[in-house]
Amino acid sequence: MNILAIETSCDETAAAVVADGRDVRSSVLSSQMKTHDVTGGVVPEVAARMQLEMVIPVVAEALTTAKAEWADIDAVTVTRGPGLIGPLLVGVETAKALAYARGLPLIPTNHLAGHLYACLIEEPDFAWPYLGLVVSGGHTELVLMHGHHQFELLGSTRDDAAGEAFDKVGRLLGLSYPGGPHVSKLAESGNAAAIGFPRPMLDQNNFDFSFSGLKTAVRQEVGLGGAGPTGRAAAHSLSDQPMADQQRADVAASFQQAVVDTLVAKTVRAAERFSPSAVLLGGGVAANLLLRQALKESLEYCKKRLLVTPPEYATDNAAMIGAAAFWGREQSVNDEGLFGVSADPGWQLSGSVM
Ligand code: KG4
Ligand code: ZN
Repeated sequence: MNILAIETSCDETAAAVVADGRDVRSSVLSSQMKTHDVTGGVVPEVAARMQLEMVIPVVAEALTTAKAEWADIDAVTVTRGPGLIGPLLVGVETAKALAYARGLPLIPTNHLAGHLYACLIEEPDFAWPYLGLVVSGGHTELVLMHGHHQFELLGSTRDDAAGEAFDKVGRLLGLSYPGGPHVSKLAESGNAAAIGFPRPMLDQNNFDFSFSGLKTAVRQEVGLGGAGPTGRAAAHSLSDQPMADQQRADVAASFQQAVVDTLVAKTVRAAERFSPSAVLLGGGVAANLLLRQALKESLEYCKKRLLVTPPEYATDNAAMIGAAAFWGREQSVNDEGLFGVSADPGWQLSGSVM
């Protein structure tokens, strides 16, 4: 079954053709990163307009790259949420129009489910339950996956998402958008033990996260307000010379270590409590090498497998949506039923009925 997938939930316009949930025949992406770098973050209105410009060319290229005609396509899928309403609307309305015009079924797909199915694309079999950690620019969620599209939310962030914290710290360090890859690159030359940033909520017996305090601690450390995390005066003040390269690298490395320690500790705790067959690590922050490595090593200790998203499907893409849709295809809608499908910016993963 060939599914044409469309993903426009944030700042990437993506389309893919995926056969039977596993065989990615094409995966095309048009990124808005350069545009949003100018403003230091995504401006939703601008993102939506750019999605509108790119969605049809990207879909056309996905078909061409897959060497597929419309006659080869059996269903269309689209990210219905969560995400930014303007960008989501572009994808959803385009997918509805294409499905209606071609007489194809439409499968509405959850973006976070896509991030988790990206970890399973290369797995030959399923073995429930899985424990899933989704870490992206908008979400940090720990879920149990009991079956196809059956999610139970264990915990989530109370404020900033992990990727959002990376992006904000990137901005504080004067790095380009999105901050995650740049912060982790800078961290390579830093000392992760240089600054004792807080490990938020680790002492609490739940699976929730909080990253805004950590971001504030970084802000203080770089001299943009108050005392540093240790209570001592900020290591750097704005009136000083520009922060030394080594100092910036130490901040990046110490921040990254604090995020990774927190994510790993809570995930390992959940793995011990719920005994999943494997742990899935998905979302843009899953591209972080330290996180991948630290989680793998900690899970080896408690004899759990880690299935990480292949790097090309870690950040937003449509292949993961095509894979997730195949396993949720019984939720497809046809004909007039298409008109009832609407974008849902707050679509929760738990109890995710498609
Ligand atoms: O999943 P994604 O592409 O978009 C959302 O659904 O939000 O995730 C994007 C997030 C951004 O916050 C970006 O900074 C972060 O993933 N990210 C990283 C890395 N690569 C991307 N964070 C840390 N380390 C990385 N190597
Ligand atoms: Zn995402």
